[in-house]
Amino acid sequence: MPDPTYPCNRHFVSAFDGTTRLIPAGPEQRFQLDGDDVRAHWGPRTRGVMLASPSNPTGTTIAPAALQRVLDAVRERRGFLVFDEIYNQLTYGGPTPRSALALGDDVIVINSFSKYFCMTGWRLGWLVLPEALVPLAEKLAMNLFICPPATAQYAALGCFEPESLAIYEQRRQEFARRRDYVVPALRAMGFEIPTEPDGAFYVYADVSRWGLPGEQFANRLLDEAGVCVVPGMDFGVHERDRWVRFTYATGMERLQEAMQRVSGFVRRL
Ligand SMILES: Cc1ncc(COP(=O)(O)O)c(C=O)c1O
Repeated sequence: MPDPTYPCNRHFVSAFDGTTRLIPAGPEQRFQLDGDDVRAHWGPRTRGVMLASPSNPTGTTIAPAALQRVLDAVRERRGFLVFDEIYNQLTYGGPTPRSALALGDDVIVINSFSKYFCMTGWRLGWLVLPEALVPLAEKLAMNLFICPPATAQYAALGCFEPESLAIYEQRRQEFARRRDYVVPALRAMGFEIPTEPDGAFYVYADVSRWGLPGEQFANRLLDEAGVCVVPGMDFGVHERDRWVRFTYATGMERLQEAMQRVSGFVRRL
């Protein structure tokens, strides 16, 4: 997995007695992996690669050519690619990327009703698997959760009504508007955001100029300004002190208030 990465994905691997190998992925590669990373870090016991695009915590998508190179490297090694595209429909500034399923039926795709469809609390998602893995996933499901709640499944049918889809599109545009507000606002305060986030609802910002590790920065920002951000240490080990993650999944008014408070906080540092 790239480092930084969504922390739960690491823990899912541990839950299956696997060991996660985190591969440093900096802003110069959009915080995503490339084929050479896979080749360089693949060991004798490596089974596969897991990616999320757009990524949590960085809000950056993987370039289609880089994804193809990752998949080529995985296929050469007869491994598997698990592709978490939970934020796929939440991208801004270009057409929605094609699902990784378009790359072949050997790709394992994860998705959910939690983000684009706004059903976070309903605990409903989906997994698309190569045919041969379906019986294994069924056994796992039987042991882990048996089945998704029926109520959530019925409710989710409503997501595909034209009225619902129109609302999701409006919300996507609203997220784009918030990103277009938050990114320049943070840059104007002195935060380095070397890679333009183009998806999800996150901005990964470099706080190193203030001389505080991300964790201290986040704790002080919470205590002194009442604004909550997540330090880079939650998402990996590579340059963990350099970053904090901002989320713009709240309304414009609160974001404006937050930006004012952050601005006052960094001026006082
Ligand atoms: C990249 C990524 N994958 C998966 C999830 C989990 O989503 P769910 O609500 O479907 O469990 C999240 C939630 O934050 C996420 O950011």
